[in-house]
Amino acid sequence: MSNDVYRKIKREYEIKRQNEIEKAKLKIQQVYSKNPRLEEIEKEINMLALKITRNILNSDEITRQVEEENMKNKIEKLEKKYDIELSKIGLSREDLNPKYECSLCNDTGVVKNGDIIETCKCFKQALLNESYKQSNINKLDEENFDTFDIGFYSSKKDKEKYGIDKSPLENIECIKNIAMNFVNNIDLPEQKNLLFVGNTGLGKTFLANCIAKKVLEMGKTVVYQTAPVLMDKVIEYKFSYDKDIYEKEQYNKIFYVDLLIIDDLGTETMSNNKFTELFNIINTRLLNNKKILISTNLTLNELYQQYDERVMSRLIGNFTICKFVGDDIRLKKKKIN
Ligand SMILES: Nc1ncnc2c1ncn2[C@@H]1O[C@H](COP(=O)(O)OP(=O)(O)OP(=O)(O)O)[C@@H](O)[C@H]1O
Ligand SMILES: [Mg+2]
Ligand SMILES: [Zn+2]
Repeated sequence: MSNDVYRKIKREYEIKRQNEIEKAKLKIQQVYSKNPRLEEIEKEINMLALKITRNILNSDEITRQVEEENMKNKIEKLEKKYDIELSKIGLSREDLNPKYECSLCNDTGVVKNGDIIETCKCFKQALLNESYKQSNINKLDEENFDTFDIGFYSSKKDKEKYGIDKSPLENIECIKNIAMNFVNNIDLPEQKNLLFVGNTGLGKTFLANCIAKKVLEMGKTVVYQTAPVLMDKVIEYKFSYDKDIYEKEQYNKIFYVDLLIIDDLGTETMSNNKFTELFNIINTRLLNNKKILISTNLTLNELYQQYDERVMSRLIGNFTICKFVGDDIRLKKKKIN
């Protein structure tokens, strides 16, 4: 989990909670002005509560107990009165409490479990949602390992058509395994990065999304970007004069998120500046053991023609190449609908 995600959500929680507390205070003021008797009763209750604390210092044990009992009874009676007064204007004490979104943590983000303080479920979910948002992917609900359908891949072997000995089905099962191992070993330096190659509509982006979702669920950070947008952004950043903090953050993320997904490599218009930047991104990430997933329509030969030796040697040496084969799933889906 990146610190800025955590800080952002923490801050949002504080604001949310404070807002509700303020609203509740305002409501109480309004109610008291409608029925001043309520405020008087509350004051009396507070006075008694204070007396109880002072009474603890009373040296005589028996007197102390009697007094305490006495005052507690009084408080109870006053509270009943308070409730009656409130009900006269159609309210209950509940209505005066701050309205927190989460009843488990009252929007503090933490819950007590015995002696241990734990992060509340709602806070974990909020962190995850924010990471999803920042990852740039909006299809995680539709495209994930649970919805991954191997039925779209033919079980027929056809070397001439697909160019490999295996059937597309066997092939995708193999790639899916590689993908799951990649997720599980994402922190290991010896785990290679992934290069998805293959024609259009074979599920490269889909599988990249499956991986992204899992990695996000592990509490890690992911950025997804298509190569054209990524390269344009990088170049724009490099050549702009006044960079604000947000822009700097976005730029740095490209280098330091746990997983960077570059989709559709090869569809960007290339320039020398972009080559340098692409090399820089890949190289920095490799040096820092930050994983990369690249997907492309180009064949390895075409990649060699488009990218220089330095980029290619890194792609070949540090990436597991997954060749997607089969029939265009987009077309298959169209036929079904
Ligand atoms: N395993 C799968 N299960 C169900 N649907 C899938 C699967 N793989 C791909 N699809 C669907 O098929 C269509 C094409 O998949 P996807 O966009 O991942 O292909 P691609 O290989 O990235 O293509 P391109 O090279 O054009 O970007 C999408 O609508 C996607 O949701
Ligand atoms: Mg794609
Ligand atoms: Zn909560």
